[in-house]
Amino acid sequence: MRMKMRNRQQKSSALCCNAGSRCSLPLVIWSLVGCVLVIHLYSVVRYKDRGATTQVRLTRRTVTRELEEVEEENFQIPPPRGKRSPRAVKRRGPRKQPTAIDEFLDEGSDLRPFFFPDRRSAIDPTKEGNDSMFFYPARMWLDMDGNPIQAHGGGVLFDEKSQTYYWYGENKDGETYHAHKKGAARVDIIGVSCYSSKDLWTWKNEGVVLPGEETNITHDLHRSNVLERPKVLYNDRTGQYIMWMHVDDVNYTKASVGVAIADSPTGPFEYLYSKQPHGFDSRDMTVFKDDDGKAYLVYSSEDNSELHIGPLTDDYLDVTRVMRRILVGQHREAPALFKYEGTYYMITSGCSGWAPNRALAHAAESIMGPWETMENPCIGGNKIFRMTTFFSQSTFVLPLPGLPGSYIFMADRWNPPELKDSRYVWLPLTVGGVADEPLEYNFGFPLWSRVSIYWHKRWRLPEGWRTAYT
Ligand code: DGJ
Repeated sequence: MRMKMRNRQQKSSALCCNAGSRCSLPLVIWSLVGCVLVIHLYSVVRYKDRGATTQVRLTRRTVTRELEEVEEENFQIPPPRGKRSPRAVKRRGPRKQPTAIDEFLDEGSDLRPFFFPDRRSAIDPTKEGNDSMFFYPARMWLDMDGNPIQAHGGGVLFDEKSQTYYWYGENKDGETYHAHKKGAARVDIIGVSCYSSKDLWTWKNEGVVLPGEETNITHDLHRSNVLERPKVLYNDRTGQYIMWMHVDDVNYTKASVGVAIADSPTGPFEYLYSKQPHGFDSRDMTVFKDDDGKAYLVYSSEDNSELHIGPLTDDYLDVTRVMRRILVGQHREAPALFKYEGTYYMITSGCSGWAPNRALAHAAESIMGPWETMENPCIGGNKIFRMTTFFSQSTFVLPLPGLPGSYIFMADRWNPPELKDSRYVWLPLTVGGVADEPLEYNFGFPLWSRVSIYWHKRWRLPEGWRTAYT
């Protein structure tokens, strides 16, 4: 025991210079040299690391900078004219100053060509030229046969198997009418259209993959009913493509979701059933597939006063019993979800029928909530543009896997007098930069990264967008 103690004392006095003990000078020098070397090595590694990250960030910034450019919009509301369309006079009374939204909704407005440019300026993939691959929000968009794309309230699925994008949406290529005096403008159900593309700009018409029902008046999809906002998910376990959609009657009182299924992305989809999820009314809706393969339904409920969210069953054919109420009392619709670096984000609109209104961004650490409301994500244009989501309404947010943090915001510029001529507003959306201001005062929650949707009259995806950072 005493021997052990002595040994230990000897060892410790060899390692350090205690008061009263004698130091060995070479040992001290070598220890110092060692320390300096370790510190130097550590700082070199750290610097290299930081250098690499900065490099990636810089390159990413350069690539996405062009997506983040914004443009101003100069348009003046003309002074009231002597002659206005009789419908507009009836709606507004003779003296009231028209707002930009009045002008937007007025078929007789001089600004009509500004909101709905005619076919001469259409995005046309059949024509070679300088405009190739450029997105022009709200211009007419033609498919590869030269026909206007009919995929309203839609969403895009990237099919891994075929490495192809599929765009599904409402085919509204029919007559717009009002079922009764106070009813909203509508088009009879034609069905869900599907378009395919490798580059997100050139779209091939794959036809109506879920048709409306012509004869059976009791069928959910009878043409006199409503089919809106179809979205398709691929189920890795079953190998099936599952479509969820808003199914309703002409007065929007059925307020249900419908489910259809197919073995191929281009259908034909077989319609299965409709239901009120979790026993609640469900109008605008979307579905979202998480990285772990779990999928969720999100829908406006309780007369659009709140959203509900709940997981789908493993086969994506139904909801489970689990549901959370989110954004309670906020009256939001048109939800579009996406995820970035483990955080969930959502864009929604207010509830004003076919008329445009202000978008809001929301964020959550867990998809089941709680969800926090952030600011209006729209940037650029002018104030009226920003307050009306560029005269459009959210429908989907499409990730660009090669550019992490960059997405395409997909929205509809509805044209209520002529719904089939509604337009698509596709714009770059990015997550990042400074935190959203109002949340700086909310100490209970993290500071979410800002979600920004940038107005561009004309834009294109940067080179290498498919694979840049994958
Ligand atoms: C707003 C919704 O977002 C649309 O999908 C559609 O249902 C219109 N309301 C009908 O007025």
